[in-house]
Amino acid sequence: MSSAKPFPFLCGAATSSHQVEGGNNANDWWDWEVSGRLPFPSGEACRQFVRYAEDMELAAKLGHNAHRISVEWSRIEPEENRWNEEALRHYQNVVREIRRRGMEPVVTLHHFTNPMWFSRKGGWLSSDAVRDFERFTRKTVEFLGRDVRLWITINEPMVYIYKGFFEGAWPPGIQSAHSSLTVLRNMLVAHTRAWWVIHRGREETQTGPVWVSLAKHLIQFDPCRRHLKRDRIMTGLRDWFFNDMVLESLTNGYFFLPGFAAEFLPFRDTLDYIGINYYFRDFIRFDRMTEKDPLGEICDKTHHQSDITGTTQMGWEVRPEGLYERLLALRRYQKPVLITENGIATLDESQRERYIMDHLSYVAQAAREGVDVWGYLYWSLLDNFEWDKGYAPRFGLVAVEPDGTRRIKSSAHVLTESCRKLFPR
Ligand code: BGC
Repeated sequence: MSSAKPFPFLCGAATSSHQVEGGNNANDWWDWEVSGRLPFPSGEACRQFVRYAEDMELAAKLGHNAHRISVEWSRIEPEENRWNEEALRHYQNVVREIRRRGMEPVVTLHHFTNPMWFSRKGGWLSSDAVRDFERFTRKTVEFLGRDVRLWITINEPMVYIYKGFFEGAWPPGIQSAHSSLTVLRNMLVAHTRAWWVIHRGREETQTGPVWVSLAKHLIQFDPCRRHLKRDRIMTGLRDWFFNDMVLESLTNGYFFLPGFAAEFLPFRDTLDYIGINYYFRDFIRFDRMTEKDPLGEICDKTHHQSDITGTTQMGWEVRPEGLYERLLALRRYQKPVLITENGIATLDESQRERYIMDHLSYVAQAAREGVDVWGYLYWSLLDNFEWDKGYAPRFGLVAVEPDGTRRIKSSAHVLTESCRKLFPR
């Protein structure tokens, strides 16, 4: 594990383009919203596309020293191979604003949304997907490469695939195990190509080191009925399939799925750090193999009332120990870790304050036990568009009033104070 840290402990917040910008009318989520698949459109969201300077000023005033955004592919490349320089300059201004305010920008290239032209020709199922994403990465790096050192290629590939290609609740609304695995393969290859493009861009411009990862959603899995071997076995399989397979493939450079695919990825060891998003624990039970749940089912959590420390507006269990356990489990990869998302949807500020303090305490504990943690980015800076749940879940450190005014919540100060106390700079 590298001992010299390139950054002080990074403490800040994260957002994504479609959830905060507003007016992203050239992507597949917008299309899904206006075609009536959701009762509420993202609409103007938080209007961050025009209010970004105010938001960056706010984050810096709150004492953040890092900020994660995503760039919107559909703005940058509204039609295949046609670049919108204005959009590229916009994102250049956003990352410069982040830097100017003394924060480290963390930039995600893909956070669930795709341009409509890409989606129309098959999206991540298409044989062009890797090439298209590589071209978009190259163009973005050309504009942002000098100002960005921390990159995330793809946000939560497994969640994106599960929701869009297995469960079908998100665009493109497909329900197919075979398609899911095709997309997984394409995303892994796309990540490795993007990793290479970003590193090469750095060499060409001689702008110093860059670190590239993806944001891997991690779930703490526990067996529903501990005494049953079948629940324990399925829990272990899920843990490997959901938590480890992507990270293992990208460190070993070898994608292997029994019965489906076995191939070398174009580049080996393409995680310079491990970006993780952690939210909750799931309990797993297995009674019989079904097509819908080949790796067991998520069991009804009321079985475990005594073990549960609270739930969120999303119905997720609050389980800070799970973050600690996941961090310790990552030690085997021998890489630095950046917590790229962790947060709670709640209307109760005291619950959010507790959540932040408890999770950060466990992060500090894991760091004392040898995990090289680079930082913690709370999800999210603002109350924003929570995909198919609309605007009801409130994840923000800052509320957005109906007229767009930003109102700082008490938990925002707790985040900064906890970071200062637990990770003195
Ligand atoms: C996603 C965010 C989302 C958050 C809360 C993460 O899985 O990256 O886009 O808003 O979870 O659900």
